[in-house]
Amino acid sequence: MKKFLINEFYFCAGILFLLLAKIKSKALRYSPKAFSTAEIERCIEYDIHVADDWLKHLKEYASDYTIQDKHVLELGPGSDLGAGLYLLSKSVKKYTAADVYDLASDVSPDFYRAFFTYLREKEQVHTDLLEEELLKTRHRQNGRLNYECRSDFNLVEAVGGDKVDLIFSNAAFEHFSDFRKTIQDMSRVVASGSLLVVSIDLQTHSRWIRDKDPNNIYRYSDRLYKLFNFQSSPNRVRPWQYREALEQNGWKNIVIQPEMRLDDRRLNYFQDYLNPDFRDAVNQMNYLTVWICAAKQ
Ligand SMILES: C[S@@+](CC[C@H](N)C(=O)[O-])C[C@H]1O[C@@H](n2cnc3c(N)ncnc32)[C@H](O)[C@@H]1O
Repeated sequence: MKKFLINEFYFCAGILFLLLAKIKSKALRYSPKAFSTAEIERCIEYDIHVADDWLKHLKEYASDYTIQDKHVLELGPGSDLGAGLYLLSKSVKKYTAADVYDLASDVSPDFYRAFFTYLREKEQVHTDLLEEELLKTRHRQNGRLNYECRSDFNLVEAVGGDKVDLIFSNAAFEHFSDFRKTIQDMSRVVASGSLLVVSIDLQTHSRWIRDKDPNNIYRYSDRLYKLFNFQSSPNRVRPWQYREALEQNGWKNIVIQPEMRLDDRRLNYFQDYLNPDFRDAVNQMNYLTVWICAAKQ
């Protein structure tokens, strides 16, 4: 009885959070981070951490691969282009960031000043050329650092004619409205032998309930969930579906690794109360965040 009541409580509480998220999406500008971009030091640390995590997973996946002289595409860069500048400082040839929201154009110049200071002092990087690239990007001129925002998220148009060698993404795939189309598009812009290294957050995104009931969004029927849908709602796509879409688009050696997991006790407590579509073991509901690495044929 207690188990039933607790699950009923989370069902009702989750609806409230979905409603709040929908109202917030209408009333406020989309906010990609859980903290403000005014927290400059924290944003810098975050960007460096995200990029270092990509490089770590890339190394584990393909130990001989080098990013030097490669064209990197980042999907959903969020509030700034710090990760891209960091990758360029590590000899990437070209970095293109594609997004549906133009979030990074009006980031404060103080952020980039502090970012370049960080690169000079902590990474011993000469930043003159990077600063020139950023200036060009801010004047909407393409070069080594490119930022392409399109409301249709058409990656083929965003990338143009130049082939991509490496795709990185952090906490963005779960927001793609049509993940099959995005995977199809990204597969068209990559060169043969390209690699994909992405991290995906599969959990409920609203704070508080995310800690208490990480799989809360999977409790609801499609019909009910769609009532609260907005452009960046978590899409509830499970790892097997990403695998299937990648395979269909010519990706191989697909490795899907959980990073955060739900412990067995909580999984068993909640699993029977999920929408039946998510109860089958194929959905791996114990996976809360995953890394996906793959190579294009
Ligand atoms: C949670 S933020 C993550 C941003 C950044 N990668 C980071 O780690 O801070 C999600 C990213 O996905 C983008 N995004 C949200 N909804 C999208 C959609 N429907 N299609 C494409 N991108 C979307 C956002 O603009 C943002 O860049």
